[in-house]
Amino acid sequence: MVIFGASGDLTKRKILPSLFNLFVSGGLMRENFFVTGVARTRFDDASYRLLAADAVRKAFPSASGADLEAFCEACHYIPGDYNDDGTYAALGKRLGELSLLHATQGNLIFNLATPPSLYGPVTGRLGANGLILKGDSTKPFHRIMVEKPFGTDLESARELNRTMLRWVEERQIFRIDHYLGKNTVQNIMVFRFANPIFGPVWNSGFVDHVQITVAEEIGVEGRAGYFESAGLVRDILQNHMLNLLGLVAMEKPASLDAEAIRDGKSAVLRSIRRFDPAGLDRQIVRGQYAAGGGEAGYRQEPGVAPDSCVETYFAARLFIDNKRWKGVPFYLRAGKRLGRKETSVTVVFKNAKDCVFRESGIGHPPNRLVFSIQPEQKVSLGFIVKIPGARMCLSGQNLEFSYNSLAAAPLTGDYERIILDCMMDDQTLFWRKDGIEESWRLLTPVVSRWQSCPVPEKQRMMHLYPAGSGGPAAADELIRRDGREWL
Ligand code: NDP
Ligand code: BG6
Repeated sequence: MVIFGASGDLTKRKILPSLFNLFVSGGLMRENFFVTGVARTRFDDASYRLLAADAVRKAFPSASGADLEAFCEACHYIPGDYNDDGTYAALGKRLGELSLLHATQGNLIFNLATPPSLYGPVTGRLGANGLILKGDSTKPFHRIMVEKPFGTDLESARELNRTMLRWVEERQIFRIDHYLGKNTVQNIMVFRFANPIFGPVWNSGFVDHVQITVAEEIGVEGRAGYFESAGLVRDILQNHMLNLLGLVAMEKPASLDAEAIRDGKSAVLRSIRRFDPAGLDRQIVRGQYAAGGGEAGYRQEPGVAPDSCVETYFAARLFIDNKRWKGVPFYLRAGKRLGRKETSVTVVFKNAKDCVFRESGIGHPPNRLVFSIQPEQKVSLGFIVKIPGARMCLSGQNLEFSYNSLAAAPLTGDYERIILDCMMDDQTLFWRKDGIEESWRLLTPVVSRWQSCPVPEKQRMMHLYPAGSGGPAAADELIRRDGREWL
């Protein structure tokens, strides 16, 4: 694996520790494997190995010294600027030598963990310098992994697709969304399609609405430079949340083939009702954290403009205009610096109109199915039971399965799974060209409107919320107008 962006934050926090975990787990890639890092910082092999060891130790403090040494032996480094053909000439020569040394038969994965503006230029130079060969996806294979964000709007995503596809085939591109590497996210599809009891009720006849929440306690964590030009809709909704929505709403795929699953998710994205720029406020609310609970506000974070109008929160109401979901609202909300971390998907079922217990005078909650993605990892089904006693009193209770009750598997990390799948040529967990463009087709009118509208309107649409709170009141209003509440 060649890592572009080898000295960066993502490489240190996620990629190197995940590679190490694959290296030590169950013989998955102990042999015939090497890493070559490329970036401008003037490391050599020895100093890059120190960086790699440090990154791994931070993630796995109890890693064995022998394992760490063996892993670091397989790490190499080439310094150079990505805009300089000399870097690629040196890289090509080194890869030839390392391929022989580590007996990798010329198979290569190029992992682009660089600033997004470099995805296109790096792919172009890899192609022009003959390092990555188009169509060469079997023996030896040449694949390219690309981090998010993939484009910043529809036009830039299309342009990036065009640039990359000039040099490689679609099947050689692995567009990452690390959410899809989470076991609890993959479980949504298993739960739906392996348990036939849910099939008949998974539609507008039985489902009242769906809520998807991605709440984080952290703020922008030193990524203000990126965040100021992105905002939370680009950071979380365009990728992670639309993927969650796709898994909840898709039709049963014909098979577990990557294309069948990605066809299903793309069909959902195509059916989402377009936002109407005229009445945007009623469809999507944007917010930004202000100071609160001892934490600085977003505008006080280092690198953020003091008058920034970038959203760190949104709440949206979407409809999927197909037969299955006609009239069922999907409420999505996400935010930074909220009271607690929680990612979940809740399917709220309709209350029976002819419930025989209506007369018992006790309002009871409707059945709910909750997929807790993180930090709790569980599935729970809310239902009604009779409370012991002479009178007919009802109470809402939960039937629960927690992942804690299963023995931990050796590989539970999202990046491990993603890297492994790329090595195994399994595209299921990666975005396809049409899916990514469809997601931008939906969201580009929203982000363009927010960006281009006059400052007073921008300020009017921005709802501040105190750090550590549950988000802005306008988000509560969005769902309350429909007679519902956030759960
Ligand atoms: P960093 O800024 O920490 O790292 C960027 C890397 O790119 C550095 O290694 C830098 O090398 C290298 N680089 C930049 N320009 C050049 C150049 N012209 N020539 C050679 N090397 C260059 O970014 P992150 O690691 O945070 O992010 C990388 C990618 O991953 C981004 O696209 C980001 O959106 C995505 N991502 C990051 C996440 C995270 O948690 N960090 C989460 C999800 C996605 P050097 O400093 O040595 O010059
Ligand atoms: C990243 C976003 O893709 O996902 C970050 O850029 C966010 O802003 C992160 O914090 C959340 O990932 P996870 O796995 O911690 O939920």
